[in-house]
Amino acid sequence: MRILYFGDIVGENTIKVFQKHLEEIKKEYKINIALCNAENVTNGKGLSFKHYKALKSLGFSGMSMGNHTFSKKEIKEYIDEATVVRPANLNTEYGKDVLYIKYNDKTIALVNMLGRVYSNTPLDCPFKTMDKLLNNIKADYIIVDFHADATSEKKAFFYDFSGKVSAVLGSHTHIQTSDEEVYNNTCYITDMGMCGPKKSVIGDDVESIIKRFRTGIFDPLVVSNDDNFIINGVVLDLNDNENKIIRFTKFYKLED
Ligand SMILES: [Fe+2]
Ligand SMILES: [Fe+2]
Repeated sequence: MRILYFGDIVGENTIKVFQKHLEEIKKEYKINIALCNAENVTNGKGLSFKHYKALKSLGFSGMSMGNHTFSKKEIKEYIDEATVVRPANLNTEYGKDVLYIKYNDKTIALVNMLGRVYSNTPLDCPFKTMDKLLNNIKADYIIVDFHADATSEKKAFFYDFSGKVSAVLGSHTHIQTSDEEVYNNTCYITDMGMCGPKKSVIGDDVESIIKRFRTGIFDPLVVSNDDNFIINGVVLDLNDNENKIIRFTKFYKLED
């Protein structure tokens, strides 16, 4: 089975890029299922119902989140019913620990986990949370979106769960790493990167971020309005005995 997984989607203009180009990317890689990280879609923080519906209608079968899962309060009203998975190590009654996705006779379990290094959020241990989940998950393939800052935490999680899950895919830094590999038949990349405006600092307006660093004054973040886009992701080729991963980067202009 071929699965396309896009890194963090930043800003609603990126949805327009997918409206124009998702089908051709799916065709190029002969994709069965498209997944994405959707934590930064709405103004860079969170996912509104309107944008969730837009991604759904484009054909995304599942969406993982991250530290911005609940940045838009309205998600509490729809997340239980949605094909969205929130970090399993957040302590909340909203949303699900595992999203099951069916494709023909196969079932994929999609898990989202938050790293704890450099995080102020009170989180359960991602390693022990994953141990518990694995006792109950029944699926042909298990994919974990590990949303974290520290490369060490992601890599340690990968080795710990290699052979037990199909893929550990890093997200959150918005910068794609070039370290994809397969070990113990588990696919890995430290970070898938992002899908969003190219001239930006991890998706946000360049000038306002420079101002933050120069002055220490934290004005509200705004998504960059550059109409050039970078689209980062990975293609997983999951089979019963041999899994593969490749990463890709594509560039589009909004009007293209
Ligand atoms: Fe993000
Ligand atoms: Fe994040």
